[in-house]
Amino acid sequence: GTAGAAGAAGLVLGATGGATVYAAAGPEAAPDGKALTTVGSTAVPFHGAHQAGITTPLQARGHLVAFDLAPGAGRKEAAALLRRWSEAARRMTAGRPPTDAGGDTGVALDAGPSSLTVTFGFGRTFFGRTGLDARRPAALDPLPDFSSDHLDPRRSDGDLWVQIGADDALVAFHALRAIQREAGEAARVRWQMNGFNRSPGATAQPMTTRNLMGQIDGTGNPKPSESDFDRRVFVPAGGGAEGPEWMAGGSYAVVRRIRMLLDDWEKLARGDQEKVIGRRKSDGAPLTGGTETTELDLERTGPDGKPVIPANAHARISAPEQNGGAAMLRRPFSYHDGIGADGTPDAGLLFVCWQADPLRGFVPVQRKLDRGDALSPFIRHEASGLFAVPGGARDGEYVGQRLLE
Ligand code: HEM
Repeated sequence: GTAGAAGAAGLVLGATGGATVYAAAGPEAAPDGKALTTVGSTAVPFHGAHQAGITTPLQARGHLVAFDLAPGAGRKEAAALLRRWSEAARRMTAGRPPTDAGGDTGVALDAGPSSLTVTFGFGRTFFGRTGLDARRPAALDPLPDFSSDHLDPRRSDGDLWVQIGADDALVAFHALRAIQREAGEAARVRWQMNGFNRSPGATAQPMTTRNLMGQIDGTGNPKPSESDFDRRVFVPAGGGAEGPEWMAGGSYAVVRRIRMLLDDWEKLARGDQEKVIGRRKSDGAPLTGGTETTELDLERTGPDGKPVIPANAHARISAPEQNGGAAMLRRPFSYHDGIGADGTPDAGLLFVCWQADPLRGFVPVQRKLDRGDALSPFIRHEASGLFAVPGGARDGEYVGQRLLE
C-alpha cells in the first residue's frame, strides 16, 4: 500500500503536499550555488503537529532501523539521545550537515534535502528500560500471534525505531549513518531494513505506486481530505481514549517485513492475479469496473452467479466496511535483498501502516486476512514491530520531550 490515490489526497508520489520548496538560492543552497532540481530542492518541514514521514508522499528510498538502548542507559541517556537525533534530523531535513561539529561524511554534499524525513518511535521495551512503565500506552501491548506468522525475533521489535525516507539514495544513506553515529554510546542497532519506491518523475504524472507483484498499491488509503482522516490516523489532542497525553498528535506504526513468494506469484496468469486482489493490474480499477478510484461493488455477481470480486479477494477482506470501519494509512517501501538461502528472491514489502489505535486498524484486519485471503499463499510475514510515534516537535523542542522530560 502506498499513500494515496490520485489528486486531492496530497499523498501522491511526486506531489508536494505538505512540503515546502527548499530555498535554492539561500545560504543553505548547494555549495556551488547552482539551482537544484525540483526533486533535490523539496524540503519537508521537521516541525509540526505531527512528525514528518507519515502523510508525506512516499519517497523513492527508505531505511527502517531499530535500536536497543545500551546496557546501563536509562531515561537521562534516552532524553539526550532524542535531543541529538532531533537536532540532526532538523538540520538534515533542511539540507544541512547533521551537526556543527564537523566530521560529516559528505555523502549528501551537492544534494538538496530531497524530501528527507526522519521519524522516531518508541517500542514497548523502551518503557521498562527507562523506568517509564507507568506512561506506556496500552496500545503498545504486544500484537496477537497470527497463524501465518514466520517472525524472526532478531529482526523484530526494538526499544527505538527510526524511519528515514528521501527521494535520493545518497541523501537517505547519509541520514542513516548520521543517526547511527549520533546514537553514540546510548543505543545499538538491533535491525535495519532498506526499501524503495518509484522515483518521482518516472511516470508521466504522479500516480499511486506499484509493489513488486506489479499491483497498484495504496488506492484504498484514507485521504487527508476526508473528515475522519485525523481520527483514524492520529491520537487526538488530550490523548483521548487512545491515551496518553504525551502521544497527542502521534500515531502508532505497525511494521511488518512481508516476503513475497514471487516465483509462485509470477506463474499465475494475469486474470488469476487480478482475482487475488479484486482489482485490475493495469490501472487498479475494481474488477466490477470504473477507474482506480471507483468503489468496489462487492455485491455484483457474474454470469456464473459468483461474486465478480471473489469472496476471498484481498481488497474485499481488508475493506473498512468489512471490518467495522477499521482503517489504517499504509505507507510501505518495497525491498529486495538478493536471493534468499532457499534460492528464491528475498523481496517484498516493508509494510508500514499508521493508525490512532492498532486495535482499530491493523489488528482486526490482519486477523481476518490471517484466516486465509487469496493473497496469503503468496506472502510470508517475516518480522514485526509496533511503535508509538509521538507528535511532532514544536520549535525548540525535541521529539518525545513530552514523555522524557
Ligand atoms: C488493499 C496489496 C498486505 C491491508 C490492497 C490492494 C493491494 C494490496 C494491491 C488494493 C489496492 C489498494 O487499496 O491499495 C497487498 C500486498 C500485501 C498486503 C502485496 C503484502 C505483501 C496487507 C496487510 C494489511 C493490508 C498485512 C493489513 C493487515 C489492506 C487494506 C487495503 C488493502 C486495508 C484497502 C482496502 C480498502 O480500502 O478497500 N492491498 N497488501 N494489506 N490492503 Fe493490502
